[in-house]
Amino acid sequence: MTTTFTAVAHPNIALIKYWGKSDEELILPASPSFSMTLDAYPTTTTVRLDATAAEDSLSLDGRAAGAGQRARVSAFLDLVRQRAGRRERVVVESRNTVPTGAGLASSAAGFAALAGAASAAFGLDLDLEELSRLARRGSGSASRSVHPGFALWRTGDDAGSYAEGLDAGDLDAALVIVVLNDAAKAVSSRVAMRATAETSPFYSAWLQASNDDLDQMLAAFEARDLDGMGQVAERNALRMHASMLGAVPPIRYLGADSFTVLDAVAALRAEGLTAYATMDAGPNVKVLCPAGQASRIAEALARVVPAASIITAGMGPGVRVYSGET
Ligand code: PMV
Repeated sequence: MTTTFTAVAHPNIALIKYWGKSDEELILPASPSFSMTLDAYPTTTTVRLDATAAEDSLSLDGRAAGAGQRARVSAFLDLVRQRAGRRERVVVESRNTVPTGAGLASSAAGFAALAGAASAAFGLDLDLEELSRLARRGSGSASRSVHPGFALWRTGDDAGSYAEGLDAGDLDAALVIVVLNDAAKAVSSRVAMRATAETSPFYSAWLQASNDDLDQMLAAFEARDLDGMGQVAERNALRMHASMLGAVPPIRYLGADSFTVLDAVAALRAEGLTAYATMDAGPNVKVLCPAGQASRIAEALARVVPAASIITAGMGPGVRVYSGET
């Protein structure tokens, strides 16, 4: 009989973005970020220890992972082993329901789930703060997917930089997710962040502006003012993309159809709806709105970009871990 540990985690979408590191190795952010964990696109990861294996093994959606992905996961598992003072290799099976590497936060859900399952498998009893710090080392944005609903990931040193969960009270928020292209991006967020920091003259202005945006976002969040949150979120996303456009060579994740959706969102606002767009490291657009307006917004956007697949997500749960026997 073998004990397995399974964790389920969901992606999160940043409304104040993380774009730039103060430490590449420790994955410390250069500015704080703020996000909503989704109730869509779960990743389920099962881990079991294998004391006889010479290497970790990784399967993604039932297929053996490539060398690059395996190396990244093994390096992360080394951190868990080091912390637990253990040496066993690990069999990891992960199932992802979100398109991978398309700016839809697949790595956030993936590393939050792996942090949950692997830490349990090695007998580490981590609280959410410690789990967030660990998940951060896999992918920065994963630090936020540990929490349900809204989370704030602060800057700091290795011990001080983790995401904390925020109480959303009766805030009514949903994200209409417009998937324009689910292909993996050509430039990873890791590489693009570094290039922006090293070559864009707008990078320092981005960091300053994003810190200010966060203050306004938190004030709007405290007031449960979704319009205020949306205004800051849309501006913050465009500022992040502006910083990348200034890189040498320029980094451009948004396509013509992303701007078509941005225009349509502005038109919906002119009609009196609460709808604000945000975009990550890919062309896809997520629209922040009240849950009650989501179907009307999704229908209007489907008319504008008929080839897109559109889903609506609400606030989702944090990482959950289960053990079982096989
Ligand atoms: O954690 P990473 O390396 O996948 O970077 C995430 C970057 C953005 O999605 C663009 C912004 C964010 O805060 O999630």
